[in-house]
Formats: sequence, structure tokens, C-alpha cells
Amino acid sequence: MDRLVIEGGKRLIGEVEISGAKNSTLPILAATLLADESSVIDGVPDLADVNTMIKLLRALGVEAEQEKSLLKVEAKSLVPLAPYELVSQMRAGICVLGPLLAKLGQAKVSLPGGCVIGPRPIDLHIKGLKALGAEIEIVHGYIEAKVPPGKRLRGTKIHLGGAFGSSVLATANVIMAAVLAEGETIIENAACEPEVADLANFLVRMGANVEGQGTPLIKIRGVNRLHGARHTIIPDRIETGTYMIAAAITRGEVLIKDAYWGHVTAVAEKLREIGVTVEDRHDGIYVKADPDQTLRSVDVTAFPYPGFPTDMQAQITALLAVTEGVSVVTEKIYPDRFIHVSELARMGAQVIPDHGRVIIKGVPQLTGAQVMASDLRASAALVLAGLVAEGRTMISRVYHLDRGYERLEEKLTRLGARIWRESDKKKPVENREPMEVKVG
Ligand code: EPZ
Repeated sequence: MDRLVIEGGKRLIGEVEISGAKNSTLPILAATLLADESSVIDGVPDLADVNTMIKLLRALGVEAEQEKSLLKVEAKSLVPLAPYELVSQMRAGICVLGPLLAKLGQAKVSLPGGCVIGPRPIDLHIKGLKALGAEIEIVHGYIEAKVPPGKRLRGTKIHLGGAFGSSVLATANVIMAAVLAEGETIIENAACEPEVADLANFLVRMGANVEGQGTPLIKIRGVNRLHGARHTIIPDRIETGTYMIAAAITRGEVLIKDAYWGHVTAVAEKLREIGVTVEDRHDGIYVKADPDQTLRSVDVTAFPYPGFPTDMQAQITALLAVTEGVSVVTEKIYPDRFIHVSELARMGAQVIPDHGRVIIKGVPQLTGAQVMASDLRASAALVLAGLVAEGRTMISRVYHLDRGYERLEEKLTRLGARIWRESDKKKPVENREPMEVKVG
């Protein structure tokens, strides 16, 4: 198993390019199932989750050819079965449910696994698809959905709000089913995340009739068929935000190229409140913090877009761990998403989890330590802490990072970080960690 090693203490200086968004790519690849012809997607990042989605599409009967970030896919003769072996590796596997149901009138999709960031229910996906007329049962760990014989999915008004707000992938699933349904569907309390809008824009290119994407009210008028389309994935706003914090935490100066300002304003505003310089420039997002500057503590609450993203909560916690004063970070989407806190404490952070929030007393210096990555964004927080810690940090279970950060070590090394990957070849059987489900 690989681990990342970081020698902390270097200011990051230079330019970094942002890859296509993982969380756009995954549903957009699922949406290609809806077309009668091939589609070409550009800006596809080379990530473990994306590779799992491509494997899943192939298992469903799709032909996929890839050249660097360009992916050509064609749904030739589809089978409606998404197996456990693939869907259990990644939460986004559930995105094939809506398209399969709409295209084939039936789908059997494994339930996605549990997750270290907290419970990940699917009731909103089921509610939305049932409202469109699907019959759905959970049998032997699979979601079995079908359109009753002789019928089509039919448009209706669907309220998709849950206890923790809107749902990104449930909105995606319902949109993808509704585009081929009869009549008009109105989704209330739809997720406003840019990745949902990117998906809807791709569907429009395929001939779908979708309006209101990016707002809580989405209207879809069903069409009979969709054709193939060409689309470029939006830049990854979470990767952007992570490099913004990397610049801030190392008191560096970084220009983040190919980033979209409008998608990261909540992160930018928080960094400005902390005392970091953040500018929207014509060639990218410029972030600077001086080495002798005192940064200020702040309170942060993670909630749905356009709020501060839950996928940036762990990273800002790492920054606040070395920011003078007391900060409180509250998590409104996944109240249990605080596993990174105990690992940050191993590095000297003063962080106390407290029922859906963490109280952070900034310390002047973290110290390198052996730590364990538990999920994608928690791992990113440990990398950020390692970049600023005194001495050497070793992060195990680095495969979590490979799910969401393209060429991480290469990009950080170009900015001046001392970071490399080591392979731990000899692994005594008696020390093996319990097996863990990877989802996200
Ligand atoms: C997406 O997951 C992202 N994943 C997650 O990114 C992200 O953390 C999350 O949205 C929130 O922004 C992808 O896009 C592939 P949700 P998703 O449904 O859609 C509850 C990352 O690090 N809920 O919007 O699965 C749920 O428990 C990851 O890249 C229900 O109650 O999340 C949570 O509290 C991890 N019932 C809230 O809604 C449901 O049926 C929001 O979850 C579905 C969700």
C-alpha cells in the first residue's frame, strides 16, 4: 500500500492548473447512457473514481475509448445490471439508476456501501423516481426499479428536500430520468451545485429540455430521444479550494489557473476574513499570505451550495488549526464528517469535536507525524497540515487521495513542496488493517 511523505515548511509559490471536476464527470458519464449515439467528453480527470465509473459503464454495455482527458463513449447494447463489485466502490455508481430506468424501462443497481463520512441514505433518489411512476423494491442489496409494462415515466412535481437539505446525486438521478419522461417535471428544492448545472447543460446539448439548473427549481420537459453530444467538464471547485488553502496555510503565493471564481466565492470570502489575499484575476485565482502575517480565527458553517462546501470543511479545519485564536467549524450536511480531527490532533492541533462541529484553538506550529487517511477530503486536510508541519509527515491509505486529486504530488512539487510517494511492499499479515468500503 502506498503512502505519502511530506517534509513540511516550504512556502508554495507558482502556478497550478486545475483539472475537470470529479463530481461533474461522474454523473455526466452516467448521462451518456441516455444517448442513441456516441458522446465525447473533454476535461475528464484521471482519477480512481472516474476509472471505476468507466468500468461500470463498460459492464453496462458501453464502448469507451480514452485519450488523455478526452473520452468517447457509446451506449451500444445496454444491460440493466450495475453490480455490487463496482457500485460498492463509489457512491456515484447510483447515478446510473435514473438513466437506465429512463432508457430501458428497468434497472437493477447495487445499493452503494456505507461511508466513513456518515450515513448516506438514498430515500430521496427513490422518492423522486417513484414520483415519476417507477416501481421500486430493495431486494438482496439491490435497488430493483421498473416502469410498469406498457407505460412510460411521466412528469410531475417533486419536492427533493431532505433533513439535511437538497441532495446532489438525487437531483442528478431524477433529472436524468425525467429528460425522457412524458410531460413536464418540476423539481423543487433541487441541489444548486455547479456539478448539477454542468450535468443539465450536457443534457441540453444532447437535446433535452431543462431549465432552471443552478437554482432550487428545475423544470424539465421530456423528449422522446437524446442524441450524442460534445461537452467539456467544468473545473473542479474543490480541487481549486484545496490549492487556495495550500497557498494560505504555507503562507505562499499561488495563481490557480483554469479555476472558476464564481464557484469558489464562499471559500474566497472565508479566506479573506481570515486575512489572506484572494483576487479574481483574468488568468486565474491569486492567493497570497505573507510569512510574518497574523491570520485571524473565523467561524465556518458547511451547508449546500452556494454555502461553504462540506467537501472543503476538513481542509479549512487544517488551516484554522494554525490560525491564532479560537474558531468553530460546523457541519450541516454530514454531522459526523470529522474523522480527520483525531489525525490532526496527532500532529499537535488543538481540535475538539462537539456534536456536528469542531472547536479549534490555533497553535503556532504543527509537527509531522504518522497519520492515516480516512476519506478523500480528510486526506487532503492531512496533506495541507503536512505541508506546514515541522518535520516529516507520513500519510497512509493514500488511495483515498487518488479518488479525487489528479497528479497531486506533481502539482504540489511544482509549487515547491517536498512531497513524494513511497510503496510499503512488506506488509505483515498480523498488522493488516480491517477492510474498508470506499465510497464518495
Ligand atoms: C455529493 O454526494 C458529492 N458526491 C459529495 O462529494 C458531496 O460531499 C455531497 O454531494 C454534498 O455536497 C458526488 O457528487 C459524487 P447528497 P451525494 O445527496 O449527492 C442526505 C467528495 O468528497 N441525503 O447531496 O451523495 C445526505 O445524507 C464527496 O467529493 C438524504 O437524506 O450527497 C446528506 O446529509 C463525498 N437522502 C445530504 O442529504 C438521500 O436520498 C446531502 O447529500 C440522499 C442524501
